[in-house]
Amino acid sequence: MGTTSSALMMLFALFFIERLEFICSSTNSNVSCIASEREALMKFKGNLTDEANRLSTWVGEDCCTWKGVGCSNKTGHVVKLDLRNPNLDSYGPNFEMNKLRGQISPSLLDLNHLHYLDLSMNDMQISNSLGSLKSLRYLDLSGSIFDATIPHNLGNLSRLQYLNLSNNYLSGPILDTLGRLTSLTVLDLSYDTFNDSMLYSLCNLSNLIHIDLSFNRYGGAMPHCLGNLASLSILRLNSNYLQGPIPSEMGNMTQLKDLDLSQNQFEGPIPSEMGNMTQLTELDLSSNAFACEIPNSMRNLCNLRVLDLSYNMFTGKLSTSIGSPFGCIHNSLEDLLLSSNKLSGGLPNHLGEFKKIERLIISRNSFYGPLPSSLGRLSYLRELDTRDNQLNGSIPISLGQLSKLEYLDLSNNSFVGTVFELHFAKLKSLNELYLHSNSLVLNVTSQWVPPFQLQVIRLASVKVGPQFPQWLETQKNVTVLDMSNASISVVIPDWFESIYCGIVALDLSNNQIKGKLPICQKCKYRSSAIDRWLYLSSNRFEGPLTPLPSDVYLLDLSNNQLTGVIPVSLCKVKNIAYIKFSNNQLSGRIPPCLWQLDHLFVLDLTNNSLYGEIPSSLGSLQFLNSLHLRKNRFHGKLPLSLQNLTFLFTIDLGENVFADNITSWIGYNLTNLRFLNLQSNNFYGDIPP
Ligand SMILES: *[C@@H]1O[C@H](CO)[C@@H](O)[C@H](O)[C@H]1NC(C)=O
Ligand SMILES: *[C@@H]1O[C@H](CO)[C@@H](O)[C@H](O)[C@H]1NC(C)=O
Ligand SMILES: *[C@@H]1O[C@H](CO)[C@@H](O)[C@H](O)[C@H]1NC(C)=O
Ligand SMILES: *[C@@H]1O[C@H](CO)[C@@H](O)[C@H](O)[C@H]1NC(C)=O
Ligand SMILES: *[C@@H]1O[C@H](CO)[C@@H](O)[C@H](O)[C@H]1NC(C)=O
Ligand SMILES: *[C@@H]1O[C@H](CO)[C@@H](O)[C@H](O)[C@H]1NC(C)=O
Ligand SMILES: *[C@@H]1O[C@H](CO)[C@@H](O)[C@H](O)[C@H]1NC(C)=O
Ligand SMILES: *[C@@H]1O[C@H](CO)[C@@H](O)[C@H](O)[C@H]1NC(C)=O
Ligand SMILES: *[C@@H]1O[C@H](CO)[C@@H](O)[C@H](O)[C@H]1NC(C)=O
Ligand SMILES: *[C@@H]1O[C@H](CO)[C@@H](O)[C@H](O)[C@H]1NC(C)=O
Ligand SMILES: *[C@@H]1O[C@H](CO)[C@@H](O)[C@H](O)[C@H]1NC(C)=O
Ligand SMILES: *[C@@H]1O[C@H](CO)[C@@H](O)[C@H](O)[C@H]1NC(C)=O
Repeated sequence: MGTTSSALMMLFALFFIERLEFICSSTNSNVSCIASEREALMKFKGNLTDEANRLSTWVGEDCCTWKGVGCSNKTGHVVKLDLRNPNLDSYGPNFEMNKLRGQISPSLLDLNHLHYLDLSMNDMQISNSLGSLKSLRYLDLSGSIFDATIPHNLGNLSRLQYLNLSNNYLSGPILDTLGRLTSLTVLDLSYDTFNDSMLYSLCNLSNLIHIDLSFNRYGGAMPHCLGNLASLSILRLNSNYLQGPIPSEMGNMTQLKDLDLSQNQFEGPIPSEMGNMTQLTELDLSSNAFACEIPNSMRNLCNLRVLDLSYNMFTGKLSTSIGSPFGCIHNSLEDLLLSSNKLSGGLPNHLGEFKKIERLIISRNSFYGPLPSSLGRLSYLRELDTRDNQLNGSIPISLGQLSKLEYLDLSNNSFVGTVFELHFAKLKSLNELYLHSNSLVLNVTSQWVPPFQLQVIRLASVKVGPQFPQWLETQKNVTVLDMSNASISVVIPDWFESIYCGIVALDLSNNQIKGKLPICQKCKYRSSAIDRWLYLSSNRFEGPLTPLPSDVYLLDLSNNQLTGVIPVSLCKVKNIAYIKFSNNQLSGRIPPCLWQLDHLFVLDLTNNSLYGEIPSSLGSLQFLNSLHLRKNRFHGKLPLSLQNLTFLFTIDLGENVFADNITSWIGYNLTNLRFLNLQSNNFYGDIPP
C-alpha cells in the first residue's frame, strides 16, 4: 500500500506546488506585505497560544517573510498559510508542545486571496465562516479541530481542490454540503464519526482522484452513480456500516488503483465488471458478508498486487476463478489473502505460476486434496498459511526450496507421511513452523543442523520421538515450543537448559518423558509483560520439583511421578496464577508462605500424599477461583479465613480427614461457589439452608 499511495501523494503535492508557483515563501521574498493582511495575521496570532514559539518570526513589517506565510510575488497578497504541526509523530514528545491552540480569529477572513490553508495537527476552534475564504484551493484541517463543529458554509468553497478533515471526531452528515465542491480532487474525511448515507452526493464531483471516508459511521448502500467518477484512483470506504451489493457500474472506474471496502456489511454477488478495473493494484473486500463466488473476471486484474477477501463467506473453487490458468493476475499478485471463507476444492497446480507471491494465506476454508508441489517454485514466498482446512497427502519436498519463507503453517489438516531434512533444505529464513494436528512423522538425523533459527515451533501430535530432538540444541531463539503428544520417551538432555530460559510457552505434555524435570537455574526474570507457560503434564517425570524460572504464570506438572515436598521457593514465583500438581506423589505440608502468590487463580493438589492443616494464611489469596485438595491426607478444621475468598468457584476437599462443623463454616460469604465437594471426610453439623 505504502508505495502507491506515497507516489500518489507526491503527485498531488507537485500538482499544488505547480499551481502555487507564484508564491514566494520567506526565503525568496522580494515583496513586502499588504498592511491590512499583516494586521489580520497579527490578530490571528494574538488569539493563539504558541508554547513552542513557532510564530517567533512573526514580527516586523514584511509578513511575507514570516514562517509559514506565503505571498504572491505578483500582487503581494498572502496566498498561503502553512501552520501544520512540524512534529508529525503524534506520540513523539514534542507533538503536544508544538500545537498552536485557541480560537481562529475572524480576522483570517480578511486574507481573501488565500489559496492554501494548512492548520493540521493543532488544537483550533474553527471559525464558522471559513467558508467565506472563496479563493481556497487547499484546506487541511486534519487532526486540528477540537470543538467538533464544521464550518457550515464549506460548500461555498467552489474552487477547493483538496480538503482534509480527517482525525477530528467530527460527526453528523456532511456529504450533501460537499457535493457542491465541483473542483475537488482529494477528499479525506477518514477517522471522524460522520454518519450520513448520502454517498451519491459525491457522484457529480467528476474531478475526484482520491476519496477516503474510512473509519466513520457511513451507512446505506453504495450508489450506482459512483461509477461516474472515472478519474478516481483511490477509494477507501473501509470501516463503516455500508451494506448491499457492489454496483456493476464500479467497473467503469477504470483508473482505480486502490479500492478498500473492508469492514463493512457488503454482500454479494460481486459484479463481473470488476474485472474491468485493470489498473487496480490493491483490492480489499475483507470482513464483509460476501456469500458468493469470486468472479472469474478477477483473473484479468493484471496489475493487482494485493487481494484481500478474508473474513467473508466466499464459496467455490480457486481452479475456476483466480487460480485458473487463464488471465494474468498471476503475474502481479503479491498477497493472496483468503482466510476464513467457505472456499473448497483442491489447490490448483497453477498456483505455482504466481511468480511474485509473498503471502499465500488460505487458512480456515474447506480446501482438500494435496499441496501442489509447484508451490516450491514461489521463490518470493514469505508466508504460507493453510491451517484449518482438509488438505491431505504428504508434504511436498519442493517446499524445502522456499528460501524466503518465514512463516509456514500447515496445522489442522489431514496431512500424512514423513517430514525429512529435505523438506527444510533451503528454509534459511524460516521463523515460525506450525505442523501440529496432522498425522505427520518428523524423521531427521541426530546430526542435522537446520538452516533456520526458529522462534515458534509447534509440533503437537507430530511423531518426533522417541528421542528428544537433538537439532533443537541449535535453535537459540525459541520462544514457543510445543511438542505435546509427540511420542518422546527419553530423559530431557542437559543441553536443553540452554534454550529453556528463552522459552515463554513450553508444552511437552502427553509424552512419556522420563527423569527429572527440566532445570532452569540461570533463567533471569524477563522484564517483558509475558509470563511463562509450562505444560509438562502426563509424562513420567520423577524426583523432586526443581527450581523454577521466577516468572512462571502457568505451571502444569500433573500426572507425573514427582516426589518430595512443595518447595518454599514456589512462594517466590510472584505472578503464578495456575498451579497444577495433581496426580503425583508429593508429600509434606502446604507451605504457609503460599499466601504471597496474590495472582493465584487455580491451586490443584489433587491426589498426592500431602498432609497437615490448610494454612489460615491462604485466606489472603483473594483471586483464588479453584481449590482442589481432594485425595490427600489433610486434617483439622477449615480456617475461617477461607471465607474471605469470595471469588471461589470450586472447592474440592473430598477424600481427606478434615474434621470440622460444617454449619459454622460455610456461612454466607462464598457467593460465587458453584462446586463444593466435602465427601469422605469427618465433617459434621448440618448443611445450612
Ligand atoms: C514568482 O516567484 C517564482 C519563484 O521564485 C518564480 O518562479 C516566478 O516566475 C515568479 N513570478 C512572477 C510573476 O514574478
Ligand atoms: C527585488 O526588488 C528590487 C527592487 O524592486 C530589485 O532590484 C531586485 O532585483 C529584486 N530582487 C529579486 C530577487 O527579485
Ligand atoms: C482574540 O483577540 C482579540 C484581540 O485581538 C480579543 O478581543 C478576543 O477576545 C480574542 N478572542 C479570544 C477567544 O481569545
Ligand atoms: C490527511 O491528513 C492526514 C493527517 O494529517 C494525513 O495523514 C493524510 O495523508 C491526509 N490525507 C490526504 C489524502 O492527503
Ligand atoms: C454560502 O452558502 C450559503 C448556503 O450554504 C448561502 O446562503 C450563502 O449566501 C453563501 N455565502 C456566500 C458569501 O456566498
Ligand atoms: C457504466 O457501466 C455500465 C454497465 O456496468 C454501462 O452500462 C454504462 O454505460 C457505463 N457508464 C459509463 C459512463 O461509462
Ligand atoms: C466490462 O466487463 C463486462 C463483464 O465482465 C464486459 O462484458 C465488458 O465488455 C467490459 N467493458 C469494458 C469496457 O471492458
Ligand atoms: C527415519 O529415516 C531413516 C532413514 O531414512 C529410516 O531408516 C527410519 O526407519 C526412519 N524412521 C522412522 C520412524 O520413520
Ligand atoms: C532472535 O530473535 C530476535 C527477535 O525476533 C531477532 O531480532 C534476532 O535476530 C534473532 N536471533 C537469531 C540468532 O536468529
Ligand atoms: C479476612 O477478612 C477479615 C475481614 O475482612 C480480616 O480481618 C482478616 O484479616 C482476613 N483474613 C485473612 C487471612 O486475610
Ligand atoms: C461473612 O459473612 C458474615 C455474615 O454475613 C459477615 O458477618 C462477615 O463479616 C463475613 N466475613 C467476611 C470476611 O466477609
Ligand atoms: C455447629 O455449628 C452450629 C453453628 O455455629 C452450632 O449451632 C452447632 O451446635 C454446631 N454443631 C456441633 C455438632 O458442634
